[in-house]
Amino acid sequence: MLLLNPGPVTLTERVRQSLLQPDLCHREGEFFDLQEEARTRLVDIYKLDAAEWQAVLMTGSGTAAVESMIAGLVPENGKLLVIENGVYGERITQIASQYRIAHEALKHEWMQAPDLERIAARLDAGGFTHVAVIHHETTTGRLNDLQALAAVCRARGVRLLVDGVSSFAAESIDFADGSIAAVAATANKCLHGVPGASFVMVRREALKQAASRTYYLDIARLAKLQDQRNTPFTPSVHAYYALVEALRELADEGGWTARHARYAALAEQARAGLAALGIDSVLPPAESSVVLRAYRLPAGVSYVQLHDALKARGFVIYAGQGGLSAELFRISTMGNIHPADVERLLQGFAALTR
Ligand SMILES: Cc1ncc(COP(=O)(O)O)c(C=O)c1O
Repeated sequence: MLLLNPGPVTLTERVRQSLLQPDLCHREGEFFDLQEEARTRLVDIYKLDAAEWQAVLMTGSGTAAVESMIAGLVPENGKLLVIENGVYGERITQIASQYRIAHEALKHEWMQAPDLERIAARLDAGGFTHVAVIHHETTTGRLNDLQALAAVCRARGVRLLVDGVSSFAAESIDFADGSIAAVAATANKCLHGVPGASFVMVRREALKQAASRTYYLDIARLAKLQDQRNTPFTPSVHAYYALVEALRELADEGGWTARHARYAALAEQARAGLAALGIDSVLPPAESSVVLRAYRLPAGVSYVQLHDALKARGFVIYAGQGGLSAELFRISTMGNIHPADVERLLQGFAALTR
């Protein structure tokens, strides 16, 4: 079965085998070697300076990393503007509400790109220290324009907190932009690890004024202990094994730019093949990530019919979220997916729409 949902992904044999390494106590040196390798390799992906940036690991899914970032990096007296144009932006607003962080949400239709003029006007109305945004809004496949948003924030001295859960290691992120304070991400999407390990790439500077609103996900505490080759709790050791192997594999394959190129080719193969069958993508390629694309359901075919027919052929696709579930389906080409797999997928669609 090949997973074309946006994580967890189909594993390579190399990463799957890494799960079978020796049992490991998380208080032994071998575990801290593993943790250090993961942290060093994460910092290296975008060639960051380890004196300036730190990878803070945690046990939990991508939402844990996003929650840790939001709960910790908006200071006690800070105020957050959340850019919403899909499910994951809305989730950040829920997190901010839950922690009683001073915040406002700037809502967009799920199909819309963030409106930079509205964002600038809201920031100029004052009082905001931070903006939170989803880089790749997996709800629709839209790649939000991080660079343009960062420029708006930089001009106003506002810091940016980025949910890069479905873009990290596959899309360009300009960490050199001083407005970016942190990017949250996970092991089991573009990195091709297994679920259970996630992380925040954080500027060391941003940790200095971190708030401590959560116990388990306290980013400043995790950061401090991990810098000391320590950990406060029992980490998902096997997920770390897989993360490290996936990071080695990423480096061997040419790093994030090679992964971007590979995903772009697969996404275009799927888009062109589906277009030839009369199935249109929802967003133009220039506005979409290379990671996932949303498509309109073929006339007269429900999502359940499509899903079940493709599953019988060995593919798991993904439904649209919320109100989009009756209109859309989504295909991600993360993980151990190759052109021959997309070709077989397209044959499945052709058989169904014939
Ligand atoms: C952009 C984005 N943020 C957050 C999440 C939540 O990740 P998880 O389900 O691993 O908690 C996802 C999951 O697909 C996502 O795509």
